[in-house]
Amino acid sequence: AETHYHQFVVQAKTVQRLCKTRNIITVNGQFPGPTLDVRNGDTLVIKVLNNARYNITIHWHGIRQMRTPWADGPEFVTQCPIQPGATYTYRYTIEDQEGTLWWHAHSRWLRATVYGALIIRPKLGSPYPFPQPKIEFPVVLGEWWNSNILDTMRQAVFTGAAPNVSNAYTINGQPGDLYGCSRQDTTRLSVSPGDTILLRVINAALNQQLFFTVANHRLTVVAADAVYSKAFATNVIMVGPGQTTDVLLTADQNPGRYYMAARAYASPKNAPFDNTTTTAILEYKSASCTGRNGACSRPILPRLPAYNDTNTVTAFSTQLKSPSKAEVPLKIDENSFFTVGLGFVFCNPGPRCQGPNNTRFAASMNNVSFVLPRRTSLLQAYFQKIPGIYTTDFPPIPPVKFDYTGNVSRALWQPSFGTKLYKLKFGSSVQIVLQDTSIFSTEDHPIHLHGYHFYVVGQGFGNFNPGTDTANFNLNDPPQRNTIDVPVGGWAVIRFVADNPGVWLFHCHIDTHLTWGLGMAFEVENGVGELQTMEPPPADLPRC
Ligand code: C2O
Repeated sequence: AETHYHQFVVQAKTVQRLCKTRNIITVNGQFPGPTLDVRNGDTLVIKVLNNARYNITIHWHGIRQMRTPWADGPEFVTQCPIQPGATYTYRYTIEDQEGTLWWHAHSRWLRATVYGALIIRPKLGSPYPFPQPKIEFPVVLGEWWNSNILDTMRQAVFTGAAPNVSNAYTINGQPGDLYGCSRQDTTRLSVSPGDTILLRVINAALNQQLFFTVANHRLTVVAADAVYSKAFATNVIMVGPGQTTDVLLTADQNPGRYYMAARAYASPKNAPFDNTTTTAILEYKSASCTGRNGACSRPILPRLPAYNDTNTVTAFSTQLKSPSKAEVPLKIDENSFFTVGLGFVFCNPGPRCQGPNNTRFAASMNNVSFVLPRRTSLLQAYFQKIPGIYTTDFPPIPPVKFDYTGNVSRALWQPSFGTKLYKLKFGSSVQIVLQDTSIFSTEDHPIHLHGYHFYVVGQGFGNFNPGTDTANFNLNDPPQRNTIDVPVGGWAVIRFVADNPGVWLFHCHIDTHLTWGLGMAFEVENGVGELQTMEPPPADLPRC
């Protein structure tokens, strides 16, 4: 195994998008940021130097960080932010993970422009469990704002209303041909007939679930969230914020030009979103350009599902399975039920009370709206036993029974605010039923667990029914993920073994919802011996 040393300089940079010049925060002046390309078993040492005007942290999304919670990155959870002019070195080893992950800022909404791909190849000499692709290409889906992203966030936080929607979706930082002033810079991938191509699709968008497809080409899904899956063919995939999906395709069509395209999956009813399509071009090297002055013909545009096509999403997600029999925990020690959803708190009419009907938006799990500490991080408070930063009374079940068919109780949508953790013994088997409350939002909630992978043993619509739904769990070959899209109006059930000590954030990867409080954290105790004990904090850990 190798050790990779990198320097990430966080810095402002001027870029042009959508006919406008904007100053954005980047890593090393690149947007998207540098791709990390490593192998299973390698160690990464990444020194972050903050040359920007804002506090920041970097998170390595999906990396398990076994015994190294100090390198995880969410601000005020595992570390204090890296202040302007300061540095912090993230050091971690990849243990039994292969596929596609990504890294992003985990400080307010700075991940809007601070993100990049993290590719983990098999160990030297080990093949992929699928045909070796000729070409590998990261497809990083994102969202672009014409406004300063922190202003956008502050405005929503101040007014208590929903934030503005983004101005474009992007592929590798580019909106593509269908947006104004973008044609010159559209992302391109050139291939030869017969090539096998591995697309590593990452949804780095701040707030938007996205469909992705390639015109005229079948996609074969081979991995998601850096876990291999049973291969299956599909025309379209849906990727929630935080999720990744690896697909193979063969350049077996007429040599020509084809769009890869992504567009919103916004769920029913009327959540505001941009319905434009972002595109990149898959072009065969031999495609002839016989138009006037050698102009090329327009690429072929694929058909994408309608923005509210839940059936396509369900059909896709239920096909995702482990390649073989999985080691799903069968005896459950901690059986919990979390409602996940939006809500609001009433307020006095005024500039700080711009939610619907004299409210401010809030969001919660089991009606607790998560508040980050400011004085220190949760992990430091845990490790150094600093009192008064958090409590460990996160409720394992909701305060009242949830029922879609009845009148949903205020006790599920009018949250209280708190910094409550859920304490887990080392090695305990955990099951969590995630029940969407669908109170206001009609978006799915892509729920992400730091420091772990979990099995998704069941998923469905309506109220979770412990009798019949439990009987139908897939305990044989469920997929393993780090981010589960809890369907709007439905539920999902996850299982994992608490084998990684530390403090681990569990939250909705839609940044608006996270800001409103849709999250909580687990405190996982040390076990016995070195392999079950978290490392002490590094000497350069930032101070608040
Ligand atoms: Cu990808 Cu808590 O984040």
